[in-house]
Amino acid sequence: MKILVVGSGGREHAIAWRLAQDAERHDIFCAPGNAGTAAVATNVAIGAEDVQGIAKWARENSPDLVVVGPEAPLVKGLVDELLSLGIPTFGPVAAGARMEGSKRFAKEIMDAAGVPTGRAETFTDAAKAKSALPAFGLPVVVKADGLAAGKGVVVAETVEQAEAAIDDMLVGNKFGAAGAEVLVEEFLHGEECSILAMVDGRDAVLLPSSQDHKRVFDGDRGPNTGGMGAYSPAPVITADKLPMIKEKIIMPVVRELAKRGITYRGILYAGLMVNDEGSNPHGPLAKSGSTVNVVEFNARFGDPETEAVLPRLGGSFATALLHAATGCLADSDIVVKDDVAATVIVASGGYPGSYEKGRRIEGLGADASDSIVFHCGTKADAGGIVTSGGRVLSVTGTGATLREAVDRAYARIGGISFDGMFYRRDIAHRAFERG
Ligand code: AMP
Ligand code: GLY
Repeated sequence: MKILVVGSGGREHAIAWRLAQDAERHDIFCAPGNAGTAAVATNVAIGAEDVQGIAKWARENSPDLVVVGPEAPLVKGLVDELLSLGIPTFGPVAAGARMEGSKRFAKEIMDAAGVPTGRAETFTDAAKAKSALPAFGLPVVVKADGLAAGKGVVVAETVEQAEAAIDDMLVGNKFGAAGAEVLVEEFLHGEECSILAMVDGRDAVLLPSSQDHKRVFDGDRGPNTGGMGAYSPAPVITADKLPMIKEKIIMPVVRELAKRGITYRGILYAGLMVNDEGSNPHGPLAKSGSTVNVVEFNARFGDPETEAVLPRLGGSFATALLHAATGCLADSDIVVKDDVAATVIVASGGYPGSYEKGRRIEGLGADASDSIVFHCGTKADAGGIVTSGGRVLSVTGTGATLREAVDRAYARIGGISFDGMFYRRDIAHRAFERG
């Protein structure tokens, strides 16, 4: 198959890499890609959000499949554009991508479909939002409705913090149009994890569970990031929960969207909060009464979850993506290996704040069977490969046990260096604490 992957991060490198592992030989392209995707695909110099540029390339090159990585082009209607050209595309149309692009819309769908989630109210008026706070107790969560590059969520421990967040968004316009509406939401106690469901418009197949590490420093301290590491599977998602997640969370959303004329195809990523009644010290159950609640939906593969999940998939990945994109996905399209995977993000000093670029990366080494270096923010220059982003590399180890996978990821990182490099040393600590 001729396949175009849209995007330039670790997620897109993992998608292109996994496609290159298929037994069939594919002709893989990546727009715009990075120094890592160049090893498994042909990079095409078109930005991921350049809808017309990508459509033009697709008209001229007639790919058998386009796989869209990031949310921004989904929300901008790239998939609608490609489908209008008759090109099979993995990713939801813009109306479906609103599950990520508008938190108010996602809540509306969840409420209509009876999906367990935190209770929330939406406001455009700061005074009204503030007067609603007492009913939510503390902590309370204040969220900008639209896309805010992962920064639009404030978990407030005090009323003052919640009021300041409301003012920032509704009065100070901190996130522009994305923050013109805010949600005040019930705080959910528990342990977070991710389920990526592959959806073909009418049915879904769950990919292996995973858990992300959002905070920048060890011990889950410091500011939130795009994700500092991940592992798969996540032990908090015990096997008995999977049917519930499919039947009470994923499928009701797919059906509710279909009822509204939206055929959702692609990944529906459910960020979940798990609170096992009585068996953990996390705090009270959500008002929904469910032990698993939705924190958020995303309309795409997670990053870095993808770098931990895809190395665990067997079979033909291209076929699974194409079947989802064309409405004929089957359970048998998803083959999960027994391996466990752990991914550690290697970042530039200063991230998620400001950081320097252009630092030469040493020791990337060659492919190994039990560790993979995915590139997130890298660029090739005359002398080699240099950093070009905050998250630079995503290093995945695989093994028979989580310990083995984690050790292999860290061993591989041990050989890599660049000025200012840092990474978390405690990836998967929650799973190890569970014993
Ligand atoms: P989101 O962008 O909605 O994923 O929110 C970012 C992060 O804020 C999540 O990954 C959670 O750690 C936290 N968060 C968001 N909503 C809630 C909630 N209702 N209860 C507890 N934590 C939350
Ligand atoms: N790792 C979190 C995300 O992809 O949204």
